[in-house]
Amino acid sequence: ARIRHYKWEVKYEYKSPDCFKKLGDTIIVELTNSLWTENVAIHWHGIRQIGTPWSDGTEGVTQCPILPGDTFKYQFVVDRPGTYLYHAHYGMQREAGLYGSIRVALPDGESEPFSYDYDRSIILNDWYHKSTYEHAVGLSSLKFAWVGEPQSLLIQGKGRFDCSTLTTPSLDPDVCNATNPECSPYAMTVVPGKTYRLRVASLTALSALSFQIEGHNMTVVEADGHYVEPFVVKNLFLYSGETYSVLIKADQDPSRNYWMTTNVVTRNATTPPGLAILNYYPNHPRRSPPAVPPAGPAWDNVRARLDQSLAIKAHQGFIPPLPNLRQSDCASQHTKHHQRLCPLNLTEAFDQTSPPDGYDFVNYDIYKTPNNTNATVSNGIYRLQFNTTVDLILQNANTRNPNNSETHPWHLHGHDFWVLGYGEGKFDKFNDPKKYNLVNPIMKNTVPVHRYGWTALRFKADNPGAWAFHCHIESHFYMGMGVVFESGIDKVGKLPSSIMGCGATRGVHRP
Ligand code: C2O
Ligand code: CU
Repeated sequence: ARIRHYKWEVKYEYKSPDCFKKLGDTIIVELTNSLWTENVAIHWHGIRQIGTPWSDGTEGVTQCPILPGDTFKYQFVVDRPGTYLYHAHYGMQREAGLYGSIRVALPDGESEPFSYDYDRSIILNDWYHKSTYEHAVGLSSLKFAWVGEPQSLLIQGKGRFDCSTLTTPSLDPDVCNATNPECSPYAMTVVPGKTYRLRVASLTALSALSFQIEGHNMTVVEADGHYVEPFVVKNLFLYSGETYSVLIKADQDPSRNYWMTTNVVTRNATTPPGLAILNYYPNHPRRSPPAVPPAGPAWDNVRARLDQSLAIKAHQGFIPPLPNLRQSDCASQHTKHHQRLCPLNLTEAFDQTSPPDGYDFVNYDIYKTPNNTNATVSNGIYRLQFNTTVDLILQNANTRNPNNSETHPWHLHGHDFWVLGYGEGKFDKFNDPKKYNLVNPIMKNTVPVHRYGWTALRFKADNPGAWAFHCHIESHFYMGMGVVFESGIDKVGKLPSSIMGCGATRGVHRP
């Protein structure tokens, strides 16, 4: 294991380097905020930060924001191989482009339960023409303005916007230039006959995606850093915050290139598909494939997406032992100990009353437009007894618009959870748990809750700290779709002073 020391400067020229690490390495990133008017914080998505909760990078939960001109040191160990991400966790900065992927390799001599010749990573995203500031203002104004659908989909940072769809078309190449080489689609070059491990991640602001490669099937082998019992798909559904590894074999006609596409699913969006090129060497990487890009699946085919969710199981031989939910664990966890750190650094800022324990399972009509009496506003946190097992049921319902329910990807910081089950309709407390997969559930850190459906998760509150659990849709999280869990905070030890307060208030914390 090595110590990998980085000095990053965040400026208004966002780059997204892919980071390569080895299992057990210590990562040190000294982050200097060179933005003139904005704070920043960076979250290491999927890294559990065992013993280093202050390096989780969640502004408002684990640290104060890094002010312009300040430097903050993130230091943590990458303790598990797999595919992870990093991204801004301040305001809506992630969607402005501050993100990248992290690949943690096995130590030399150890091998994965599948084989491949080459390893590649791509990040899928969506892209808005309006600035993230405008979005944030719209979402927080009394005259609420929804962000709407993105204008393009990006594959590895590259998109192709159809300039002819602009309301005021312009020939000015500075306004819209489809021939600019910087705007040409991303090309991934493959050698005919070889097998590629493709690490695909989604960091969309809003969209759920279907990813496919014309003429090639994909074998899913990893999800959020855990080995998957391999299964084959024609298209892979990805929700913001998820990472997958798929194996693809370059075994098609080598005289041409193939399309790689992304399509929006779950929303009836106007966003055109994302396009990239699978380039068979030695064809020219810019050569357009001789066919039209394959169409994506129907946006509203919930069953197909649910089926993929259900197909993801832990790989034989890599099934993490699942703790049972003891009855005593089910008792209300909201013991109030007035500790002074709550969440990690913000002592008095958080409400000490317990947030609600659930919702009215019996009477809540998930198909009815709610009148919002169920909405609660609170900055309370869920305090979980250290080392207890926690089951979470995510129940999806109707939005404020009639006959509409949306898919939300939920992401947990500081832990992975076992995915016990997914179902359609309202969760049945007595019968649905009988259908849980207790045999080979996959562990993940991000899962979808499908429209009008439920998702059941279990995790062990065994990582001392304060951790966010939230919808990974940027605008939903910005509007407050998330909670904070605290557990074992008395075991955290001495907090670095750098997380305590910002600017002039730094160091002015209670002893
Ligand atoms: Cu990738 Cu709290 O987010
Ligand atoms: Cu959401």
